[in-house]
Amino acid sequence: MNAINAMTLKTVLITGASSGIGLQLAKDYLALGWHVIACGRSLQKLEALALKELGIVTLLNFDITQRSQVQLAGQDLTELLTQTDRQLDLVILNAGSCEYIDDAKAFDDALFERVVHTNLIAMGYCLGAFLPLMPRGSRIGLMSSSAIYLPFPRAEAYGASKAGVQYLASSLALDLVNSDIGVSLICPGFVATPLTAKNDFSMPMQVSVQAASKAIRNGLEHNKREIHFPRRFTYLLKLMSFLPAFVWQKMMANDTQSKSLKDKN
Ligand SMILES: NC(=O)c1ccc[n+]([C@@H]2O[C@H](COP(=O)([O-])OP(=O)(O)OC[C@H]3O[C@@H](n4cnc5c(N)ncnc54)[C@H](OP(=O)(O)O)[C@@H]3O)[C@@H](O)[C@H]2O)c1
Repeated sequence: MNAINAMTLKTVLITGASSGIGLQLAKDYLALGWHVIACGRSLQKLEALALKELGIVTLLNFDITQRSQVQLAGQDLTELLTQTDRQLDLVILNAGSCEYIDDAKAFDDALFERVVHTNLIAMGYCLGAFLPLMPRGSRIGLMSSSAIYLPFPRAEAYGASKAGVQYLASSLALDLVNSDIGVSLICPGFVATPLTAKNDFSMPMQVSVQAASKAIRNGLEHNKREIHFPRRFTYLLKLMSFLPAFVWQKMMANDTQSKSLKDKN
C-alpha cells in the first residue's frame, strides 16, 4: 500500500472487540472500509471470529487490567503505525465487565475492586498507552453506561465504576482541547450481549448490538460529547433523577422486593 492510500484509510482501535458491542463495532467499521485494530484478551478467540475475512484488521491481545501488557500493546502499536504510515483516528475504550453486589450488608470488597479495576482503572492504563499516539483531529470514546443516570440496586460496583468513567471523560475533554482530541462518553441502555444474557431481571427497552453500534458510530461521527441510547429509556432515567430521591428509591425498592418475592416462589 502506498503512503497516500495508507493515510486515507481511517484507523479505529476498539478494546473488547471479541464480544458483544465491541465485536459489532469492529464488524461495522470493517464493512465501512476502516482499518480496525481489534483488541481482546485472547488471540485465539479473536482469530476464531474471522474478522480478517471482512477487511483490513490487526489483532492485538492484552488484558486491560495488566498495566505492563497494555504498555507493551502501546509499543507494538507505535511500531505498527510507523511501519504502515497510519494514524489512530479513533479509539473506543469499550472493554468492561459487570458483577453485582448481592448482599450489601456482607459487602464483597473483592468484587468491588475487580469491577472498578476493569471498568475504570484499566481505562487509565489504556489512556496512558494510546493517547500519546493520537494525532490532532482524532477522537476517543469511553464506554460508560446509562446506569450513571440513576442508582440501580446491586450496582454499587458497576455503577461507581461507570460514574468514574463519566468524570474521567468530562475532565479529559477539557484537558485535550488544546491537543484537538475529542472525547465522547458512551452511555448505552440495555443491549443484548453475553454480558446482559446473565442478568436475572427484566431489561426494559433492550436493543440489539446492531442498533447499539449504529448509535455509537453515529454519535462519534458527529463528535457528540455524550452518546446515550435508546433515547426513550435514557431520557426517562434522566427525568426520574430530577424527582425527589424518596420517589425513585421507593420505585427501585418495590422492584427489588417483587424480584425477591419471585425468587422465593
Ligand atoms: N450490554 C449492555 O447492556 C451494556 C450497557 C451499558 C454499558 N455496557 C458496556 O459496554 C461494554 C461492552 O459490553 P458488552 O455488553 O458488549 O459485554 P461483553 O459481550 O461481555 O464484551 C465485553 C468485552 O470486554 C472484554 N474484556 C473484559 N475484561 C477484559 C480484560 N480484563 N481485558 C481485555 N478485555 C476485556 C471482553 O473480552 P473477553 O472476550 O476476553 O472476555 C469482551 O470483548 C462494557 O464496558 C459494558 O459495561 C454494556
